[in-house]
Amino acid sequence: MIFHLLIMTLVTFPLSSNGGKWTYDGPDGEPQWSRNYPYCGGAFQSPINFQPELLRFDPDLLPIQLQDYNLSSEEQLTLSNNGHSVQLSLPSRMHLSGLPHRYSAAQLHFHWGSSNTPTGSEHTINGKQFAAEMHLVHFNSAKYHNISQAVDKSDGLAVLGVFIEVGEFNPAFDRFLKFIKGIKYNGQKLQVAGFNIRELLPTRLDEYYRYDGSLTTPPCYPSVLWTVFRNPVSISLRQYLALATALLSSHPQEAATVPLVGNYRKPQQMDSRVVLASFQQSDFTWSWGAIFGFILLASGLGILSIITFICCFLKKRLTKQT
Ligand SMILES: *[C@@H]1O[C@H](CO)[C@@H](O)[C@H](O)[C@H]1NC(C)=O
Ligand SMILES: *[C@@H]1O[C@H](CO)[C@@H](O)[C@H](O)[C@H]1NC(C)=O
Repeated sequence: MIFHLLIMTLVTFPLSSNGGKWTYDGPDGEPQWSRNYPYCGGAFQSPINFQPELLRFDPDLLPIQLQDYNLSSEEQLTLSNNGHSVQLSLPSRMHLSGLPHRYSAAQLHFHWGSSNTPTGSEHTINGKQFAAEMHLVHFNSAKYHNISQAVDKSDGLAVLGVFIEVGEFNPAFDRFLKFIKGIKYNGQKLQVAGFNIRELLPTRLDEYYRYDGSLTTPPCYPSVLWTVFRNPVSISLRQYLALATALLSSHPQEAATVPLVGNYRKPQQMDSRVVLASFQQSDFTWSWGAIFGFILLASGLGILSIITFICCFLKKRLTKQT
């Protein structure tokens, strides 16, 4: 009996055995990650905040081309709870073109807030955090055999980031969200039918941010060529709540249940990096800027003329009195 329990423990806690436990909160939270994973305290870290002043428009950034993203329903994908996120496995036949190398798909996963706080994206736009974020992880298959070989190489990975906001119901997300209750505990997995993965992405694949960064979870390898789409996709509040309330980061045999929420990393230092944008800031933004500037100028001039008027008036009265 004791032997049986011992074996169960060894089998079901493979991660804790190598001393690499990490969480988003508490004693193993973000500030401590670099103790076990030195890259987390290093350079070229992700996510970052996309500050308008730090963007550089690059007209050579072409639309992202998704190849073989339309999967047949015959194909089985593994949906799993790894204690840090919900992950869907992707076949390496799916790939990206139009990047410096051929990048093959490996998996997609999510980062989200809690049910009370629907702000859990990792990247932010000018300080704005979205409800959630999806990452489609690809590896450089022109150079490496598999993702484990590529994960720590500077040209190893390409990740597509998609902002998720709460709004309209999204049928594509329901292809796997409807099974999410079946993977409540850390380590659980099930099979779901393939579908067109393209439907999870925003309509416009030509507008995105591009920069060199890292994995947003330990070991934080600085191996990612990031593409984060400018436009978010929407899911309904019900769908968001399914994501934010269904999962636990604890194993079934653990006494304490730990909800899997708030699994996002804070924005990291830019250091010397530049973020390229495939699009120019819209005229709308510029015209509002111009209007604001005009109002400032006009009120400035107004105040100045009032002061001048008062001065003249007082001066006249003073000269009259003397
Ligand atoms: C995806 O593939 C299915 C059949 O496997 C087909 O019916 C459907 O039209 C395809 N969708 C797109 C957008 O190509
Ligand atoms: C990845 O490829 C390397 C080298 O070909 C191999 O040794 C390793 O077992 C592979 N890993 C996985 C998880 O397939």
